[in-house]
Amino acid sequence: MEQHEADRREVLSEAERFAKSVLEHDRTGHDWWHVHRVVKLAERMAPEEGADVFICILAALLHDVADEKLNESKELGLRKVGEWLATQPLEVEEVEHVMEIISTMSFNAGSNPPMRTLEGRVVQDADRLDAIGAIAIARTFVYAGWKGDPIHDPELQPRHAMTPDEYRHGKSSAINHFHEKLLKLKDRINTASARRIAEERHRYMEQYVERFYQEWEGNA
Ligand code: ADP
Ligand code: NI
Repeated sequence: MEQHEADRREVLSEAERFAKSVLEHDRTGHDWWHVHRVVKLAERMAPEEGADVFICILAALLHDVADEKLNESKELGLRKVGEWLATQPLEVEEVEHVMEIISTMSFNAGSNPPMRTLEGRVVQDADRLDAIGAIAIARTFVYAGWKGDPIHDPELQPRHAMTPDEYRHGKSSAINHFHEKLLKLKDRINTASARRIAEERHRYMEQYVERFYQEWEGNA
């Protein structure tokens, strides 16, 4: 039993080293400290939700290693994670569970089916929570700067009406991203523990955007 615990701790520190080595230099919002925050949230929520803490932490540590932005393709990214997991002292079911979580949890595709397992729902919520609130505001402006988008452009319409192709190639701004994605995330949270956190963070972000427009017009 104690050996088992020691092995698990070792797997988590190896996973941390692996994820750090891949994400250290990322500038697209998937940096190591994002992963660190997602792990902390998952660790806090897992016991409240009755989820397996080890699987949640392991999946949170690895969830962005396979991201398309960091790999030639998502498939190659997932293969990299699969190969790494195969080197660890884990049960086959554990490896399969973690692979399932990280391959299905990206929140980009709005029509994604809900996560199948409780652990998947917890880790997906933790990732979404990092896109809501004070830190999310900072991440969004950093990302927009990296992409070459302005902070705001009053002539840009929110792009709900565009086709996916127009959407991908159209211009955007940091403030637009709040409307397109971040302010919608609260309603897509899976678990009760995350919903409480999301609601508070959401209000903070709404107030921020409201204030931004007031200052833009010189009214505050
Ligand atoms: P995922 O974590 O599912 O890969 P993304 O890569 O889309 O999500 O986004 C990670 C973070 O980067 C978002 O939470 C947001 O803060 C920022 N971001 C993503 N796309 C944009 C964008 N077009 N403009 C501004 N910020 C963005
Ligand atoms: Ni993430």
